[in-house]
Amino acid sequence: MFDDNDFVCRHMQLTKADIVKVINDKNISSFEALQDETDVATICGSCVADIEEILEEEIAKR
Ligand code: FES
Repeated sequence: MFDDNDFVCRHMQLTKADIVKVINDKNISSFEALQDETDVATICGSCVADIEEILEEEIAKR
């Protein structure tokens, strides 16, 4: 549903590609760990469901 260059978290200016890269580079498997790395979803929180979906997709590929 997102292209690589689409902003998933507008507040932190993170694209899908940015998020996928952090998830895989740091071998992240929880939302909290992703948040620690990126501060994603710390402003409005409207991106939480989308971030969780991307995280689940990446974990499923392992
Ligand atoms: S869009 Fe991610 S915190 Fe607002």
